[in-house]
Amino acid sequence: MLPTHQPRPDVVQAWLVARDVAASVAGTRAILKTYNGSFPGPVLRLHEGDRVQLALTNQLAEPTNLHLHGLRVSASIDDPFLSVAPGKSVVYEFTVPPGSAGTHWYHPHLHERVARQLFAGLAGPIVVTGAIDELPELKVADDRLLVLKDLSLAGDRPAPHTAADWVLGKEGDLVLVNGVVGPVLPATRSLLRLRLLNASNARYYRLALDDHPLHLIATDGGFLDRPVEMAEVLLAPGERAEVLIQLERAGTFDLVDLGYARSRMAMGMGRMGAGGRERTPRSTRLATIAVPTAFSSAALPAMLGKVSVLSPDQARSTRRLVLGEGMMGAWFSINGRPFDPRRVDLRGRLGTLEIWDVENRGRMDHPFHLHTYPFQILSRGGTPEPFAAWKDVVNVRPGEIVRLAVPLRDFTGRTVYHCHIAEHEDRGMMGVLEVSA
Ligand code: C2O
Ligand code: CU
Ligand code: CU
Repeated sequence: MLPTHQPRPDVVQAWLVARDVAASVAGTRAILKTYNGSFPGPVLRLHEGDRVQLALTNQLAEPTNLHLHGLRVSASIDDPFLSVAPGKSVVYEFTVPPGSAGTHWYHPHLHERVARQLFAGLAGPIVVTGAIDELPELKVADDRLLVLKDLSLAGDRPAPHTAADWVLGKEGDLVLVNGVVGPVLPATRSLLRLRLLNASNARYYRLALDDHPLHLIATDGGFLDRPVEMAEVLLAPGERAEVLIQLERAGTFDLVDLGYARSRMAMGMGRMGAGGRERTPRSTRLATIAVPTAFSSAALPAMLGKVSVLSPDQARSTRRLVLGEGMMGAWFSINGRPFDPRRVDLRGRLGTLEIWDVENRGRMDHPFHLHTYPFQILSRGGTPEPFAAWKDVVNVRPGEIVRLAVPLRDFTGRTVYHCHIAEHEDRGMMGVLEVSA
């Protein structure tokens, strides 16, 4: 956990130092890029309403910066265009708005360096607590955070990107949970709350727990109206989910990744099985929940937050954003144009609601992410979304159009939207949104 200082009761100060550190990963020593020497980065714990002064010092040999993924913070503070030179420090000062309770994260956002810095270890979770955490059912739950982040090593360094990695997105062969392989989590209560964060460059996780349904309570942007029972939860890069699990029987239960085929172009790009056919995804154990003794059953909360459902007929404009892949991934684009930080691609008006149709014309899944302005998914491939939720990442499958309701609230300024496969973002699948009053 990241130590914080409170010079006044409502002010929280914390300090992140980006630096190379020799860490031990899966039994080997490796030089990783870290925040404060820890892999993944330390948990930043905040409360709704906190006035935060978060310092970043760059002790790397290259420039970097920080993005507060999921926090509703003005783009003038959470500035993806900022570059922090080696040896320099910056302070990010912001207030945590009410209603931001949930699981978020921080990572670098310096264009063309994101994929390598993120893969090498620069990512950490942000946990925001708020009034909703006082619900009696949530208060008694065992609250655990799982950061899903993969890595592969070449000698004592993170493996370099290959040409194929820049096309498909880089996956590591070490699939780590909180930086370790297959941790065993002892359960202490009958209700388990898992905060799940996909901080991987490109790996998807289709999560399921042996013999137990998952009760989804929160997505990227916070709580649902009520728990939704699911057999499995798919997390694309950048996404978060919180689930409740009722543990009653004693035993050990594996949290597994069931495997997800996220590409139609895997053939010929190094993922071929024998005979030239794409391998069927197989399931991987991520962690084990050890329930020492039978617990008496715990109730789920009947109600959670209140998601105010956005009505598309209040929308001022409808836009289409087409995600495109160049030849062999030489570049990626949105609406035919690769990212250019000097160009504004979309101009919006503060206080208006927009409909965005995000269309994937490529052959790979692309997790679409927008900064600063959380959205609701209206439909995917024409199918209405089954429940209302606030999101900031949505997976868009090849050939699919996902329809979003995007309220441009609270902040003016210039920010970005992009594919959260870090390699695609670095290679151009990003655009600039400017919101003015
Ligand atoms: Cu988590 Cu612009 O990213
Ligand atoms: Cu973000
Ligand atoms: Cu992508």
